[in-house]
Amino acid sequence: MIEVHQLTKRYARHEAVRDISFSVARGEIVGFLGPNGAGKTTTLRMLTGYLPPTSGSARIAGFDIFRQSIQARSKIGYMPENVPLYEDMRVREYLKFRAQLKGLGGGDTRRRVGEVLETCGLESVKRKMIKTLSKGYRQRVGLADALVHDPELLILDEPTNGLDPNQIRQIRELIRQLGQSHTVLVSTHILHEVEMTCNRVIIIDNGRIKAADTPANLTSRMRAAGRIQVEIQADAEVAAGAIGRLEHVKKVSPEALDGGWTRFTVWVDSGTDARERISKLAAQFGWPLRSLFRHVATLEDVFVELTRKD
Ligand SMILES: Nc1ncnc2c1ncn2[C@@H]1O[C@H](COP(=O)(O)OP(=O)(O)O)[C@@H](O)[C@H]1O
Ligand SMILES: [Mg+2]
Repeated sequence: MIEVHQLTKRYARHEAVRDISFSVARGEIVGFLGPNGAGKTTTLRMLTGYLPPTSGSARIAGFDIFRQSIQARSKIGYMPENVPLYEDMRVREYLKFRAQLKGLGGGDTRRRVGEVLETCGLESVKRKMIKTLSKGYRQRVGLADALVHDPELLILDEPTNGLDPNQIRQIRELIRQLGQSHTVLVSTHILHEVEMTCNRVIIIDNGRIKAADTPANLTSRMRAAGRIQVEIQADAEVAAGAIGRLEHVKKVSPEALDGGWTRFTVWVDSGTDARERISKLAAQFGWPLRSLFRHVATLEDVFVELTRKD
């Protein structure tokens, strides 16, 4: 549905997006995840035809975003970062206006506006002025606008930004429902967001793609480069030395706790596990051991690992 090939965007002197390539298959819900300034909005604006790339190309449903921009855009429902709504229009009136701008005829406009009002939970506010709506409802109007010409693909730029937790939950639920019948590319800087809604994550930082995989694969990839935590009552230096000499252990870092206990963080080689050997070691020396576990990586660890600046 989306094929991006070596896309680059250079502003005056800043390269905001550098040579990125990725694809999104029909039916996927893909999270486009990165910190502020990573290049998410720049990428999405290029994909939706609002910003010409410096180099590279992209296709939407097979149509080149620039050479066949009208066909490409007809496939896309785009919700920009700050939805520009006409404050003095009423919800239904605004959606009719947008539908007509997008080239829908009278009959189609009436039918589609009715459908998106329902899909987006806007029935109860359809006669209200946009300026009287809460931020959560405004986002729904933005989504309804993106959906009104019945596109196959939704491109949503930080749709939950600025919402309160309840509104976030509602918008997320709506996106998940829409994902059952649409391909979705949704950008966010909130990790939790992609873990909840997406089948695949593309992590972008500093204009480059750092990883693209399912949330589960990304976290298990991190887990393979394992970290173990163990609490032992023993002389910290002696115990650190003994653990450090075990096979596959790369590094040991002790942290003193109360009552003569020490917590050791133990880094091991990818794909190995030292828990059994650590517990045998403790038994052999007669050290009391009260906790031993392997750190389970979260998507957050992956994100920090991939985007840290050292
Ligand atoms: N119109 C512009 N002119 C110059 N630099 C820009 C412009 N728009 C964005 N940038 C810069 O490009 C980088 C990426 O921005 P953006 O795509 O908005 O990131 P994100 O959406 O991930 O927060 C940032 O460093 C930003 O300051
Ligand atoms: Mg942005």
